[in-house]
Amino acid sequence: MAAKAKPGLYRDLAAQLEALLEGEPDRIANAANMAALVYHGLPDLNWAGFYFARGGELVLGPFQGQPACVRIAWGNGVCGTAAARGETVLVPDVHAFPGHIACDPVSRSELVVPLFDDDRLVGVLDLDSPIPGRFDSDDQAGCIELARILMETQRQRHKT
Ligand code: SME
Repeated sequence: MAAKAKPGLYRDLAAQLEALLEGEPDRIANAANMAALVYHGLPDLNWAGFYFARGGELVLGPFQGQPACVRIAWGNGVCGTAAARGETVLVPDVHAFPGHIACDPVSRSELVVPLFDDDRLVGVLDLDSPIPGRFDSDDQAGCIELARILMETQRQRHKT
């Protein structure tokens, strides 16, 4: 994909996500639709979905792609590292990331964005690609914004 196309693509996805989430308070339904939107809206992915924080570990949430490992210990793999640090983790080559959890051996690069409810980490958005170096800073910024829209929508709903 041309580098210039990415910000526009993410702007379109953000608008579609806001429309999809409009009026719906259920977090599982919203996460499921977001996983489908991202998986089908971004090129060259083999997995897109969520892990949610439950009892000190991450548990698989709605996703698109091959079946994945269900539980990830805090601090393990790319997802557990992003959760433990509370930071986005972009991995250009998963083979070079110590402790990477290979749910699907086809995955070669990965982007994991933490989800926050105020300051509380509630889970992560995880994207995998079969292409090494698939994700860049535009993907990072775009996915952080998509994650923010999901969490902001949930927050508004639960206040009303
Ligand atoms: N590769 C991830 C595990 C989740 S799957 O990619 C769906 C990790 O290392 O945390």
